Amino acid sequence: MRLFLDTANIDHIRHGVEMGIVSGVTTNPSLVSKEGKVNYQKLVKEICSIVPGPVSTEVLSQNTQGMISEAREIAKWADNIVVKIPASIEGVKATSVLNRENIKVNFTLCFSVNQALLGAAAGAAFISPFVGRLDDIGEDGMKVVFDIVQFLRYYQLPTQVIAASMRHTQHCIMAAKAGAHIATIPYKVLLQMIQHPLTDIGIKRFAQDWQEVMGDGRVA
Ligand code: E4P
Repeated sequence: MRLFLDTANIDHIRHGVEMGIVSGVTTNPSLVSKEGKVNYQKLVKEICSIVPGPVSTEVLSQNTQGMISEAREIAKWADNIVVKIPASIEGVKATSVLNRENIKVNFTLCFSVNQALLGAAAGAAFISPFVGRLDDIGEDGMKVVFDIVQFLRYYQLPTQVIAASMRHTQHCIMAAKAGAHIATIPYKVLLQMIQHPLTDIGIKRFAQDWQEVMGDGRVA
């Protein structure tokens, strides 16, 4: 399972990429807004230059023609751009058109297997089931991820599943078990994934034991 960062924060993206484990980024209008009143195109282009893989950025239009026009414009910004199109009727239509033009689509705001079926049929490169938001309303978000992965595998479709709306580290484990191709996670969750108190204790103890016998000396 590949890891993407779900943020538009440049410092966080740089850190994740420097760690060598972040191979893509997903943004959305809310995440971009968190960065203040920025030049949207400039910000996305900068993210694209930092990240080695796909960078998803979302259209704001709600009608098909608007989505298509926006997507065509956004697609020119960088080679690794992926356009996020919402899982609506208008979005399905836009995805079909953009797919024929070889513009990569991330079919977003996906909350059901049926929506994913239509997104895959329209040729979306990625489908993003929103796990946390489904959990919030008492549904099983990860079951939706699992079911989508199953049908894509069964029909050997090239569409990849991005487990999105990930809220905590348990979601990461569950997404990996469900067979998601990618998990897009908040920076905070990325940092939490490596945390373990026994690792901290172990590092400290090794250093102390060495110091007691060897002093400051290092292995030659
Ligand atoms: C995914 O592409 C979305 O940007 C994101 O995961 C939404 O997450 P949220 O439900 O925490 O806003």
